[in-house]
Amino acid sequence: MLQRIVKPLLVLALVVLTQRTYATEGMWLPQLLSGLNEKEMKAMGMKINASDIYNINKGSLKDAIVSFGGFCTAEVISSQGLLLTNHHCGYDAIQKHSSVQNNLLENGFWAKTAAEELPNPGLFATFIVRIDDITKAALQDVKPGMSERERQSAIDKRLHEIRQAVKKEAWQETMVKPFFEGNQYFLFVTETYRDVRLVGAPPSSIGKFGSDTDNWVWPRHTGDFSMFRIYAGKDGKPAPYSKDNVPLQPKYFLPVSMKGVKQQDFTMVLGFPGRTTEYLPSEAVKLTVETVDASKVEMRDAALKIMDGYMRKDEQIKIQYAAKYASTANYWKKWMGEMKGVKQTNGIGKKQQYEAEYRQLLASNPLWRQKYDGVLDTLNDLYRQITPYAQTRDYYSELVKNVELFTAGDRLINFLSDVHEKGEGQYETLRKEFLESMQAFYQNYNARVDRDICASLMELYAKGVPKQFNGTEYLQIWNESNKDSRLLADKIYNLSGLTSMDKLKAFVQQPYNTVVAQMWKDPATRLVMAMRKGYVDNVSKPVTDLQNNINNLQRTYMQAQMDIMGSKKRFYPDANSTLRVTYGKVDGYNPRDAIHYDFYTYLDGVMEKYIPGDYEFNVPARLIELYKKKDYGRYGVNGRMPVCFIASNHTTGGNSGSPVLDANGRLIGLNFDRTWEGTMSDINYDPSICRNIMVDIRYVLFIVDKFAGCTRLVDEMKLVN
Ligand code: ARG
Ligand code: ASP
Repeated sequence: MLQRIVKPLLVLALVVLTQRTYATEGMWLPQLLSGLNEKEMKAMGMKINASDIYNINKGSLKDAIVSFGGFCTAEVISSQGLLLTNHHCGYDAIQKHSSVQNNLLENGFWAKTAAEELPNPGLFATFIVRIDDITKAALQDVKPGMSERERQSAIDKRLHEIRQAVKKEAWQETMVKPFFEGNQYFLFVTETYRDVRLVGAPPSSIGKFGSDTDNWVWPRHTGDFSMFRIYAGKDGKPAPYSKDNVPLQPKYFLPVSMKGVKQQDFTMVLGFPGRTTEYLPSEAVKLTVETVDASKVEMRDAALKIMDGYMRKDEQIKIQYAAKYASTANYWKKWMGEMKGVKQTNGIGKKQQYEAEYRQLLASNPLWRQKYDGVLDTLNDLYRQITPYAQTRDYYSELVKNVELFTAGDRLINFLSDVHEKGEGQYETLRKEFLESMQAFYQNYNARVDRDICASLMELYAKGVPKQFNGTEYLQIWNESNKDSRLLADKIYNLSGLTSMDKLKAFVQQPYNTVVAQMWKDPATRLVMAMRKGYVDNVSKPVTDLQNNINNLQRTYMQAQMDIMGSKKRFYPDANSTLRVTYGKVDGYNPRDAIHYDFYTYLDGVMEKYIPGDYEFNVPARLIELYKKKDYGRYGVNGRMPVCFIASNHTTGGNSGSPVLDANGRLIGLNFDRTWEGTMSDINYDPSICRNIMVDIRYVLFIVDKFAGCTRLVDEMKLVN
């Protein structure tokens, strides 16, 4: 009898175990994989060893990965230094080479020979040579009871010595970063190449297909890739741009798999994730989604609606505001997803459960009690205290960011203080620089759009910010216009000398002292200064003090979590733009009741979304032709062309352009986004709905080879069947 019950239970337990014993959460340090992760990675299907990923004695996977300009990731995919990254990561570079006559964004670009590859001043690619744990040396002078400032200067002094003494080659650099809220320190020896040339990019109708409507969305059909090449001096070392530089011969480059993926296949992403906050207490998660995200979304909602209204009616405004709209909309949409995702998965409740468990364990151990008693409660309390200030900070920063007249006012004030500091003798020179920089600003500025945004956001600001934070100068201005934001905006935009380049020129053409005197009277700068003063007097100081206390306790709470919860949970450090490894499995998900999302998309889906001539969903004629003929060459499968897929890799901003590798360490895709329901992975990763979105590498090759005919690039790569 017992047997009959126990056996099925055992089988069930085994099934559950084999399905769920792996954890896909985590952005792991490559040099620690062998101790912490290798076993699990192999259990999940990985066929290579941790030492094939990070190895300081021979070429390994990490030697093919670079930080691309400090904001994205890219990977080397040939012996000739060919780099693959996202279209949205290469966007600025592609735009800078574009003109009305030769619009590379619209038409795409393919260098037919090495000589046609285009240099990009300022763009760089950084390799990680080695990672050293320097925690002990860095923290050796830190004593309990030190203030934040004392602690930091004790650390800085040691870091200086450590960096002086580090073993490295002359052309290499070092970088030190704190981990686990400053409980650990690692030193990175790096090599940075500054001659990085544009090699190829598909037209935006492929590389940005779906644009803002599809951003953060699954199912996705974007060929979000572009290609660059690293050039080195003749000795193979980093060198400034020169015509005579040669393609880099890398220590390692990624072989490309032509096989594609199946459900539950192992995947791994290497890259430079920017910032996450996974170890916050429940009050901080609450603050993030209920206050911070909510305030910023409210402000951007209003600004975006106004931009959109004008962009739909006016072609000129559409061009002027396209980039602004996209960048404002990117995080607006992300924050909405984050709010929704935390709610849907009961993120705050789960944190509270975790804290209850933590408290119980803490109470059971006198040593822990002595070290950590009260830390969590005080921290939660500090987050409660900072809430109204944080809300004001977000309203204020969104107001100044979205009302461009305020940005212009800010820049005028900064220019005049610069003259004040450097002496009036510098007025001419600094004025010339200032006017030049403002030229670009006004090129994409429309005072009508901005006036409406101002009226709308000033009203939200007045409603959202508690009176005691405003300051008397601002309240005076607000009362002068009868607390009517429309009236206030009309007055400002009618009278200010900052609403066009011509007016600004006339304004600053006058002698320095006159300009300073008039600045105080100009309604735009007057308001900017009044708000700034209110903010500095009433918000900056308390926010900084509270934040310092929070940082200090957050560090202690981090250590406490590792000590107390360490037997139940593996800890990885929050993202901080350093090289990380994350792994997961190819898998669909259920975003809502009764809806299931499959994990693959195909070119058929591109055609389903096709809207002829639309700026988001147009499809190039050549691609339609290839689709109609099913002419996919060796890149299609069973008469279909795969485009994108999803998996449970834990990624964030900065992981864009990261390579996605299979169990053998071969390139199968290119990471570029996450699904909307899962954008809360930055504060609360949940394997049930968090997925990263990748372009299938075969779609990339198909576009390069069949669509663009740039076969020389595919010939450089190492394709594995
Ligand atoms: N959401 C992605 C990331 O955060 C892609 C952004 C670029 N694409 C866009 N349509 N704006 O960066
Ligand atoms: N799209 C992001 C990036 O540019 C990636 C993400 O947030 O998932 O890095």
